[in-house]
Amino acid sequence: MFILMLFSLLCSVECSKIAPAFYGLERPALEYELPPLLYTFDELEPYIDEGMAKIHYYEYHRAYIQEVNSILRKWRRNTFKGKHASRMSIIDILRNVSHIPPTYRNNLKNFGSGLVNHNLYWATISPNPHGEHRIPVGEVSQQINSKFGSFQEFKATFTDMAANHFGSGFVWLCRNYSAAENSEDMIIVTTENENSPISQGLLPILGVDIWEHAYNLKLHNQKAKYIENWWYLVDWRQVNNLADWWMGLKLHDEL
Ligand SMILES: [Fe+2]
Repeated sequence: MFILMLFSLLCSVECSKIAPAFYGLERPALEYELPPLLYTFDELEPYIDEGMAKIHYYEYHRAYIQEVNSILRKWRRNTFKGKHASRMSIIDILRNVSHIPPTYRNNLKNFGSGLVNHNLYWATISPNPHGEHRIPVGEVSQQINSKFGSFQEFKATFTDMAANHFGSGFVWLCRNYSAAENSEDMIIVTTENENSPISQGLLPILGVDIWEHAYNLKLHNQKAKYIENWWYLVDWRQVNNLADWWMGLKLHDEL
């Protein structure tokens, strides 16, 4: 608890307002760890079952992190000069997958995406004890209305894509920003398995995990119910913070 409080304090001073689950992914790291969360899993009830969330976090998410750390250790061990993993953030690695040595490329892409996808998933939800119907706020709200017509239309499209996505994956709301063309747009995309929209040059600000491991313990095959529940937990303040955070980031497109 003390570590979480200290982290939250440092975060409030140093890292803008993004949730700690996403903090630090822009920096090179020797080892990644499970991210601190601003809630306990029982607080996500009744929308996400506590037991399911614990398995999702402590088993699936942790497994991705352990695999990433293992790959990065091998890469460092086998690199005697030049640039290597320990000098790149996981976000820069995912933005430059084609430049990763073939020996590490696929595993780092899969498990690295799994790490970042889950950090974002946890960072953009929060408890909703009063069961409020949450709606977007801030600049993201305006951008959603501008791009999709209204929140209802956006939500219907996003939900439809999630419900009809075949197999495991994620559905994302991303900023589609090009500094070179000075253009900015919002886009909904799906990714298969553990792939990240970051590898497509997109900046994800909201994502729903539609792997069965996210909901099947209690809900079994009721994916539609899980998606409906998830909307109650979306923390639009954090989505806005994440959208701002991406724009303040110095991204590297070369290794
Ligand atoms: Fe997951």
